[in-house]
Amino acid sequence: MSSTSLIELNNVSKTYSTAAGDFPALKNINLKVGGGEFLGIVGKSGAGKSTLLNMINGVDELTEGEVLVAERADGRKLSIHDMSEDARSLWRGKNMGVIYQSFQLLPMLNLLENIMLPMDLSNNFHPRRSRERAMELLQLVELEEHAQKLPAFISGGQQQRVAIARALANDPLILVADEPTGSLDSLTADHIFDVFEHLVHDQGKTIIMVTHDMGLASRFSRSLTIADGELQNGQDALNFDRTTAGQK
Ligand SMILES: Nc1ncnc2c1ncn2[C@@H]1O[C@H](COP(=O)(O)OP(=O)(O)OP(=O)(O)O)[C@@H](O)[C@H]1O
Ligand SMILES: [Mg+2]
Repeated sequence: MSSTSLIELNNVSKTYSTAAGDFPALKNINLKVGGGEFLGIVGKSGAGKSTLLNMINGVDELTEGEVLVAERADGRKLSIHDMSEDARSLWRGKNMGVIYQSFQLLPMLNLLENIMLPMDLSNNFHPRRSRERAMELLQLVELEEHAQKLPAFISGGQQQRVAIARALANDPLILVADEPTGSLDSLTADHIFDVFEHLVHDQGKTIIMVTHDMGLASRFSRSLTIADGELQNGQDALNFDRTTAGQK
């Protein structure tokens, strides 16, 4: 692994086995992401965007290759898929916020509790502080007045914003976001983009976001295209932004 990239995918392939036979959803992906990048991955429905994110966040197993991540403090390299599932969740809890395309809110917890949960599971914050912080994050996504509601009683776009707030709960170094503005109107999507840009530019966070909205490409610090499970312009995928790399 090069000394400065934060995330590195080497020859990553993912093949789904289905009743109809094997389906290659990702084909030999090579990608380097620098610390402090706002990387957008754009592609049509079915191109492999969610599959790719689920390799990077270690939520799903890969068929071939490896995903390496540099550790926060000393630049140590970790192979995400060499960790046990428990170790992986623990690692994610400390280092990576994940926004799922289908939100994955817990239906029996209210919005505040949904956002508190990752903090309480990771012990990153004192329980009193986690409640306070959850409320601040709800304010950030402009949902504080709904704090006590269950997810079933808010709109899809509101659920998406709760999922965004929850991903930020542990103040992760890396944010991995699957169509995080897909259910939002353009004004609200703009606000979320502002929040993301602030995280990258002012706090040195790294964001990897996928979207099918080609119109957003200009707002990323780098944007790549995926089609039929392959990253286009293979060379661009390796040329991460070294000027921001390594920022904290
Ligand atoms: N669990 C699965 N089993 C079999 N095939 C799958 C599975 N998940 C995804 N696929 C297939 O892999 C391909 C890529 O799917 P993926 O969900 O990554 O696409 P996507 O780019 O995220 O699409 P969208 O924009 O619609 O979310 C698709 O052809 C899909 O049908
Ligand atoms: Mg998807």
